[in-house]
Amino acid sequence: MEPFWRDRVFYPILSLISIGIILYINFGDKFKFPLLWQPKMDFISINSTHFVIKDDGGKESMVYVNGWNSYWLMEESVWEKDRKKVSKMFKKGSEMGMTVCRTWAFSDGNGPNSLQISPGVFDKRVFQGLDYVIVEARRRRIRLIFSLVNNLDAFGGKAQYVRWAQEAGFNVTSSNDSFFSHPTIKDYYKNYIKAIVTRTNSISGVKYSEEPAIFAWELMNEPRCISSSSAPFLQTWIIEMAAFLKGLDQKHLVTVGLEGFYGLDSASKLSVNPGEWAASLGSDFIQNSAVANIDFASVHAYPDSWIPDADLDEKERYLSQWVESHVMDAELVLKKPVLFTEVGSLVHTKKEGVYNRDLLLKTVYDKLYESARKRQAGAGTLIWQLLVEGMKGYGDQYSLVAWDQPSTYKLITEQSCRLQKMFRKDQTNRKTRPGDPCFG
Ligand SMILES: *[C@@H]1O[C@H](CO)[C@@H](O)[C@H](O)[C@H]1NC(C)=O
Ligand SMILES: *[C@@H]1O[C@H](CO)[C@@H](O)[C@H](O)[C@H]1NC(C)=O
Ligand SMILES: *[C@@H]1O[C@H](CO)[C@@H](O)[C@H](O)[C@H]1NC(C)=O
Repeated sequence: MEPFWRDRVFYPILSLISIGIILYINFGDKFKFPLLWQPKMDFISINSTHFVIKDDGGKESMVYVNGWNSYWLMEESVWEKDRKKVSKMFKKGSEMGMTVCRTWAFSDGNGPNSLQISPGVFDKRVFQGLDYVIVEARRRRIRLIFSLVNNLDAFGGKAQYVRWAQEAGFNVTSSNDSFFSHPTIKDYYKNYIKAIVTRTNSISGVKYSEEPAIFAWELMNEPRCISSSSAPFLQTWIIEMAAFLKGLDQKHLVTVGLEGFYGLDSASKLSVNPGEWAASLGSDFIQNSAVANIDFASVHAYPDSWIPDADLDEKERYLSQWVESHVMDAELVLKKPVLFTEVGSLVHTKKEGVYNRDLLLKTVYDKLYESARKRQAGAGTLIWQLLVEGMKGYGDQYSLVAWDQPSTYKLITEQSCRLQKMFRKDQTNRKTRPGDPCFG
């Protein structure tokens, strides 16, 4: 070897390699190798009463959603051996043409797989599970709605936050409504929001706030107050938390997570509620959804549990009116899109087979299809909720393994495809997804 090459090229390269090897041996387990390739995705945004997305040429097209709930994705991603259930769920969802999945990005308390063990203290393994959920969703070109805390006790919820504040010695009344008003508890929740939104995904290296596979943040699953006198606190809480979130993340949409009940201030609408009880929960669909930093409204629909004694015809009429009312509010009063983020009905396996479920689901699907045809504010439906096989522990009376119920599977897939076909011509360079049932 010429001395020149040996001194100027060979030795420097050799020493770089040696340094690399030494670093790898000593710190190799600390290196995170980012994913080399992920599908390109764009952020969903809003143009007046529509969800929209821009294609590569900057051309905007409207998006109407067919999707589902699987609240269990993070918990099932903690352990390597369970993760195949999560990837199967996304694969199957994609094969049904669905594009959005709503799931829990919270688990508070001392459960075995809790994400937030105590205020601001996180289990790294569980966070890595959430990272996995995002990467898998994106792989299937599915977007996620992440709910940030529960009103109910499952996975901790607001009662856990109240207990934390009490245990820390703060003078907090035991009413769980103090979740919405006590300054310490509000700070706990803000810290939580910040930890999630500013996290960098350990698998992909993408910050959550920069991740297009996140469709939206949801402030709380089904906020309710114990007493209707807490309504002003809930309203203030929504204003404060939505603004806080937008301060950290301007790219993602924010919704409240409401069930959609009308409160006492919406007197003319009270007859649309499923019962008098619904107005006393401190929430009001109109007022709560009108908050400036709330980008779109959310509504749930459970005729089987809200009006359990009604017969099927009555439930169907009720559901029709419930959907219609919220679509028109969104169109004319709120001037924002509205997403039906939980639609659930029971299976009646008597002689009708799964007919009741299909009938109620179809009622909502048809209304939303009609809304899309008229380019109205009713922007989509998410069925509650889908499982894969062998997950009895996560089931409730509204859960199903969709591919075990052919008529429901077909209904879901048809809804996905008729919505996609309606907007296909708007999309100049639509990317086909693997296993897409709508465009073979
Ligand atoms: C919003 O939609 C309207 C009507 O479809 C369109 O003319 C306008 O350019 C859109 N706005 C933006 C910011 O793209
Ligand atoms: C705790 O707060 C209540 C009202 O919220 C007040 O009446 C009471 O005096 C407070 N107790 C202490 C020890 O500060
Ligand atoms: C708050 O919620 C917890 C959990 O549901 C419950 O045990 C507790 O009794 C509630 N507090 C009040 C004052 O209702």
